[in-house]
Amino acid sequence: MELYIDTANIDDIRQAAELGILDGVTTNPSLIAKEGVDFHNRMAEICEVVTGPVSAEVVSLEHDAMIAEANELLQIANNIVIKLPSTVEGLKACKTLSDRGVKVNMTLCFQPLQAMLVAKAGAFLVSPFIGRVDDTGADGMDLIQQIRTVYDNFGFQTKVLAASIRHPMHLVQCALVGADVVTVPYKVIKQMMHHPLTDKGLAAFLADWEKQKATV
Ligand code: E4P
Repeated sequence: MELYIDTANIDDIRQAAELGILDGVTTNPSLIAKEGVDFHNRMAEICEVVTGPVSAEVVSLEHDAMIAEANELLQIANNIVIKLPSTVEGLKACKTLSDRGVKVNMTLCFQPLQAMLVAKAGAFLVSPFIGRVDDTGADGMDLIQQIRTVYDNFGFQTKVLAASIRHPMHLVQCALVGADVVTVPYKVIKQMMHHPLTDKGLAAFLADWEKQKATV
């Protein structure tokens, strides 16, 4: 399972990249706004740190304007992936860009039919949002499972990028149902390597080591 970081915070991206396990980055307009920085400059900074796919999202709503925005974003670096909303106009833009060989990430996907259409339009990634489905009282993991099944049934090559991940249990379930990629805030990446029994066991090992040193 590939691991992307879901942030526009350059310090978090650098720290995650230093772990040596980072495959890519996703951003969105809210994450960029939170940083209060110039969008294109920040994307360029990120692409200097991470060589894998870096998703940059358009804010236009119509096909032609989406393509114009995408063309500008593609100038930033050769690992930029164009992120488009899973709307009818987004679908059209996905087809246009994918036919040109541009990698597209179709975001805000909330049902398997959207995922099927964007795969038919050649999307490189589809981003179903687990946490936001959970917030409505439904089970976001069902969405990942359904998209996995649809893609496997028909041999679609679009990668399932599980997004809106809130805690490590989401990641365990994503790995079990076969999400291709997960995109995760840095806080959750750190949680992935944490277990209280690891800390407790390590403390016990070190205490025993100190005790035996005193006896020899
Ligand atoms: C995905 O690409 C989105 O940026 C992200 O995962 C949204 O997560 P949120 O629902 O926690 O905002």
